[in-house]
Amino acid sequence: MNGVNEIRACFLDFFKKNGHEIVPSSPLVPRNDPTLMFTNAGMVQFKNVFTGLEKRPYARAATAQKCVRAGGKHNDLDNVGYTARHHTFFEMLGNFSFGDYFKPLAIELAWKLITQEFQLPKDRLLVTVYHTDDEAFDLWRKIAGLPESKIIRIPTSDNFWAMGDTGPCGPCSEIFFDQGDRLQGGPPGSPDENGDRFLEFWNLVFMQFEQLAPGERVDLPRPSIDTGMGLERIAALLQGAPSNYDIDLMRALILAVAGLVDVDPDGPQKASCRVVADHLRACAFLIADGVTPSNEGRGYVLRRIMRRAMRHAQLLGAREPVMWRLVPTLTHEMGQAYPELVRAEPLIVETLRLEEGRFIDTLARGLSILDDAVRDLPEGAALPGETAFRLYDTYGFPLDLTQDALRARGRAVDVPGFDAAMERQRAEARKAWAGSGEAATDALWYALREKTGATEFLGYEAEEAEGVVAALIREGRVVDVLRAGEAGAIILNQTPFYGESGGQVGDIGVMTAPGVKFRVTDVQKKLGDLFVHEGVVEEGEIREGQALELVVDHARRSAVRANHSATHLLHEALRIVLGDHVAQKGSLVAPDRLRFDFAHPKPIAREELARVADIANRAVLENASVVTRLMAVDEAIESGARALFGEKYGDEVRVVSMGYPQEASAGAGANRAFSVELCGGTHVSRTGDIGLIAITGESAVAAGVRRIEAKTADEARRWLGARSERLDTLAALLKSPEGEAERRLAALVEERRRLERELADARKKLAMGAGAAASEGPQEIAGIKFLAREVAGVELKELKSLADETKQGLGSGVVAIAGVDGDGKAGVVVAVTPDLVDRFDAVALVRLAAPALGGKGGGGRRDMAQAGGPNGAGATQALAAVADALRGARMVGDDAA
Ligand code: ALA
Repeated sequence: MNGVNEIRACFLDFFKKNGHEIVPSSPLVPRNDPTLMFTNAGMVQFKNVFTGLEKRPYARAATAQKCVRAGGKHNDLDNVGYTARHHTFFEMLGNFSFGDYFKPLAIELAWKLITQEFQLPKDRLLVTVYHTDDEAFDLWRKIAGLPESKIIRIPTSDNFWAMGDTGPCGPCSEIFFDQGDRLQGGPPGSPDENGDRFLEFWNLVFMQFEQLAPGERVDLPRPSIDTGMGLERIAALLQGAPSNYDIDLMRALILAVAGLVDVDPDGPQKASCRVVADHLRACAFLIADGVTPSNEGRGYVLRRIMRRAMRHAQLLGAREPVMWRLVPTLTHEMGQAYPELVRAEPLIVETLRLEEGRFIDTLARGLSILDDAVRDLPEGAALPGETAFRLYDTYGFPLDLTQDALRARGRAVDVPGFDAAMERQRAEARKAWAGSGEAATDALWYALREKTGATEFLGYEAEEAEGVVAALIREGRVVDVLRAGEAGAIILNQTPFYGESGGQVGDIGVMTAPGVKFRVTDVQKKLGDLFVHEGVVEEGEIREGQALELVVDHARRSAVRANHSATHLLHEALRIVLGDHVAQKGSLVAPDRLRFDFAHPKPIAREELARVADIANRAVLENASVVTRLMAVDEAIESGARALFGEKYGDEVRVVSMGYPQEASAGAGANRAFSVELCGGTHVSRTGDIGLIAITGESAVAAGVRRIEAKTADEARRWLGARSERLDTLAALLKSPEGEAERRLAALVEERRRLERELADARKKLAMGAGAAASEGPQEIAGIKFLAREVAGVELKELKSLADETKQGLGSGVVAIAGVDGDGKAGVVVAVTPDLVDRFDAVALVRLAAPALGGKGGGGRRDMAQAGGPNGAGATQALAAVADALRGARMVGDDAA
């Protein structure tokens, strides 16, 4: 029972046996405490349980909690590597009682664990209590049987634990181990207590109060217990290791570091090996919890830790990025206890490699500048702030990296000088910008961005968090307060709300505090990273500095996620079906639908659309995981990630991959996922979460740009459901089973066509029949047969076929038919049998008839011609005109004979 993993398991097991719920570590980025940069103690995730704000289904809990102390109040960064006990990342073992047991059982359990399970010798243990805490004093005497000399009363804040300026707090009792007189130092409370001999390893806090404000302390609803034991410390004790860096876990990492750069892990470069090993843990766990290197906030702390580690790697002789190579060793050591490390391994590896690869050149140049600067300085003098600022500004050296680099040479940095140089630069940027004549609202955002800094976006991992109000805006101006009924906007230090960008709509939801409610109706991003939450105060008042509970509308966000991921799948499917020219031209990702515009020269055929939907839905059914990585933009695009042309990306981009490779995806690398895109949006975690994709429309947007519209999940189901309902209705109307409806409808259409034909025929027959009755048979004119008919109620376009039929019946002769349609328009057709076309021209004849109908001209061929006009009353006259012409022809014909 000696390895770190076994000690952790033993601790948790012991408390499980004693009725405690084993609760997983909370993330390093606190969800419930906006004032904290990183989770720095086991009780952070239970803060609201202690105060009674939050209820859990258990009253006893135990955890192994990931902690980071770097940046913010508890900053151990400067000491790490040089001391035996400091870390940026460490694990805190703790047991908790939420109004269940109090001092007696807490002391009893602690004593049992360390003396029976851990088998620490009793005579080497001693404890401290808060000087007024007689109860704890007596309990230690009774339960542990400790002599009074080993129960030390301490009157300072060392034995009164508070999580911060506000929050739960109470007196505490610390447990120490006497490592023997081979080490320097006295017991706690003695003048030389700071020596190494007496090692504090467990702190039992008797949570009794809540600090509401300075000087304002109230009792907790019920007294509670919070304990914290540094896992690395207890492991060092149990393993007889002289420092935390000598325990099995840290040793494995240090050996990996030393092996990689080929140095003696215990030689003169021991400290650098330790720094790299320690920082590797902090970086990997922070990245796994969603922090990415940046120039502000948590991201900047991560960057500082990374760069400090890289400088030490360089001191160790590394000329290439090394941190990423150590990740497998870390996952091997800690992946079982923290599965998130295994899940995030690719992200961790790539983020480290990227950051280190880009920093390595500037690091070398910066260090040589630092060397030059120091060479010219008088002995012991501090580095001028101006130089430190230049290293920061041009070479990306965080101040603490410069300080760390100078530490070995016994030099400091002129920090006020550094700050002054920074302020000067800001002022210049302000001045330069003020002249650019931007709109007044932009001036507002710019000023706010300066004042509040970027908003930290937590929404990739969380949909709920706490945030502190950094600024309030109403009607375009910064205000002190937003009151019930007022519409306005809120800027926070951090937020889980997505701000509209990349086609994806902003989140909606609520922000609350006791008696306060703000409904978020939209979130816009200003200047790239300032999240402006628009909405209405529904209850209470909101002021700057106030902490608010932020809750994103989960159902809506889930729908948006599904639509965003579906957009990526459709994009790739379109490319496979239509070709590589398909490039994104725009998109909209809303909760109820998505829209995707892309370059393509012609409409998409129905079968093509069906194939696109098939391919995209196949990727949904595969239920592959969706992986997000952070990469250099050029590297990402080289690796085949799809990006928007002309879009401005930062140096580092999020790359979202999903689905398994498809054979049909031409030109893709062997290991490329189905879809790989640069994207800052929020996505499902597995493609199966999309449920279903239905393409609902296809249209043109502009020349060469097509648009498809689609729905997913419930909306897709509803849409398809409505379609199928319509099909049912149609089937019912057709009086046929649904499966037969199509055939039935086609038959109906065909039948209708036939009926129309028959109706037309019947009409013609009727017309001819009526006409025949009214007029005589063929007359003899000029020795030929001439048949003239007047018809009514026939479509004019039918006249020709009517004339044709009549002509057939006549054998040899000329036919003229004049008709009036339902609208009173008239037409006349003249037909000449083939044997007579040399003598009579139908076109000439019909032209003679046209004027009677009020028409002009007429056209056709010698054997058949038609003319028309508005005057229906002229039909008889038109026919007479043809007969006259034939008579005239007789004269001509006779003469000719
Ligand atoms: N919360 C207590 C600490 O961090 C146990 O020491």
